[in-house]
Amino acid sequence: MSRILITSALPYINGIKHLGNLVGSQLPADLFARFCRARGHEVMFICATDEHGTPAELAAAKTGEDVAAYCERMHRVQAELAHGFRLSFDHYGRSSSERNKRLTQHFAEKLAENGFIEEVTERQVYSRADGRFLPDRYIEGTCPNCGYDRARGDQCENCTKQLDPTDLIDPRSAISGSTELEVRETRHLYLRQSLLKDEIDAWIDSQQDWPVLTTSIAKKWLHDGDGLQDRGITRDLSWGVPVKKGDAPWPGMEGKVFYVWFDAPIEYIGATAEWADAHGLDEAAWRRWWRTDEGAADVRYVQFMGKDNVPFHTLSFPATLMGSREPWKLVDYIKSFNYLNYDGGQFSTSQGRGVFMDQALEILPADYWRWWLLSHAPENSDSEFTWENFQASVNKDLADVLGNFVSRVTKFGRARFGEAVPEGGDFGPAEEALLAALTPRLRAYEAHMEAMEIRKAAYELRAIWAEGNEYLQAAAPWAVFKTDPAGAAAIIRLSLNLIRLYAVLSQPFIPDASAAMMESLNCDDWRWPGALPDALSTLPAGHAFVVPEVLFRKITDDEREAWQARFAGLRS
Ligand code: MF3
Ligand code: ZN
Repeated sequence: MSRILITSALPYINGIKHLGNLVGSQLPADLFARFCRARGHEVMFICATDEHGTPAELAAAKTGEDVAAYCERMHRVQAELAHGFRLSFDHYGRSSSERNKRLTQHFAEKLAENGFIEEVTERQVYSRADGRFLPDRYIEGTCPNCGYDRARGDQCENCTKQLDPTDLIDPRSAISGSTELEVRETRHLYLRQSLLKDEIDAWIDSQQDWPVLTTSIAKKWLHDGDGLQDRGITRDLSWGVPVKKGDAPWPGMEGKVFYVWFDAPIEYIGATAEWADAHGLDEAAWRRWWRTDEGAADVRYVQFMGKDNVPFHTLSFPATLMGSREPWKLVDYIKSFNYLNYDGGQFSTSQGRGVFMDQALEILPADYWRWWLLSHAPENSDSEFTWENFQASVNKDLADVLGNFVSRVTKFGRARFGEAVPEGGDFGPAEEALLAALTPRLRAYEAHMEAMEIRKAAYELRAIWAEGNEYLQAAAPWAVFKTDPAGAAAIIRLSLNLIRLYAVLSQPFIPDASAAMMESLNCDDWRWPGALPDALSTLPAGHAFVVPEVLFRKITDDEREAWQARFAGLRS
């Protein structure tokens, strides 16, 4: 048993996330957390809302709420949806928490002490039409690196380059569209990341097993162009963590806040401290996950995120931790994702295009979405959601393969032997063949889950379900029963045990269906299978069960067409 710290990129507070966001970090992180717990590891699974910055300010202004009140309300909305999707966070924190505020100020103080902070007079874009300084992401223009004409001032969405707004060609205000922008002077703190370049480079080189998508993005921004650039970490805004040195004021920085990308990843630590607070635990309880001098040297730390987040997690956040010269835990493995597209285009929050988390749960239970999204996770390339594909996967994998197996076995068992695991009969060549087929598949499934190869894991799980159907078809207990009732009993006994095995194995993907299977089997033995013959004799003869409700219903063509039409337009 080991200790595993798992974090999902923190969703922005401003608005409900779409399914592309969900599959890019929170959902696969949940899959892995559930798997690790099922294998008996001690898991700390952390997420939080990313609440600072201009997007929150503008969203609150739009609804007429005070920004703090807006964030509190939206945090509850997002927490509720996370629960709806069965995301099993140990804590769902808030980057605006007191914990994060203090940690952020602490890191800034340490970085300054160690010579990694510099004060810079910056020329910053001021929009006269909007009457305010424009934060980076509210300036749009053409990317100097790739020529994309809707690049934002903080990052180009197209080529992932981190930008400064003054780098943009033909800049305009994203708030008003005004091109009447002027540059004014203001003083800001810079994190001197360039001083840490070699250290970060060596650290990335020591990560032999990182996925190519992760390392290639990190290496690109370390070595291309001018290499690792110093970054401004403060902003002229009112909503955020006030710039202070620990508890002391920071002369010249009055009224400024830290940049949202500086405080957000620190909230991974902050949220773990919030978790300890929420459970009435002491400091040591969270520090053993984060301080290598207090136990975290034994922790394996895995992060999940979309590819646009990779530079911040491979360069900026490690620079913060390393530059503190304190023994904070660095990430061990970064699982990053490409984008999920929607029906011939992109999911878009700003344009309201695609299916959003609340809408998804309105039309179908979480497991249907979890299964499709995870089995089509955009791991090696972008992938695409289409309603046809969604309907086909649900109807085939969930209804025809898994659901049908559970229903046939329990119904036939009840009809012939009553609602208890039947006794008698012997196992023969059909059962041996089943075990021979299942064993390597089971071990492959475990290996893929451990490696976070999500599509491959889903493929094996589906194959494991299918083996059950094939066995049932070949063993044909309905025919055997006519001449050899005991033989049919043995088949059903094994098949009922297979349902339990499926519940245990499938739980990380489809937790509600797994719980329903276990309930119908009247069983709460969730032990992960070791040797299959043992695992498949868990439910003894005489053990009571009931026929469950339909596990998965099919999506009809009419429904598919109606949903396709409903979501074709933009969300209002
Ligand atoms: N809110 C950011 C996004 O959605 C992710 C922040 S991850 C963190 O892209 F670590 F910085 F918090
Ligand atoms: Zn670009």
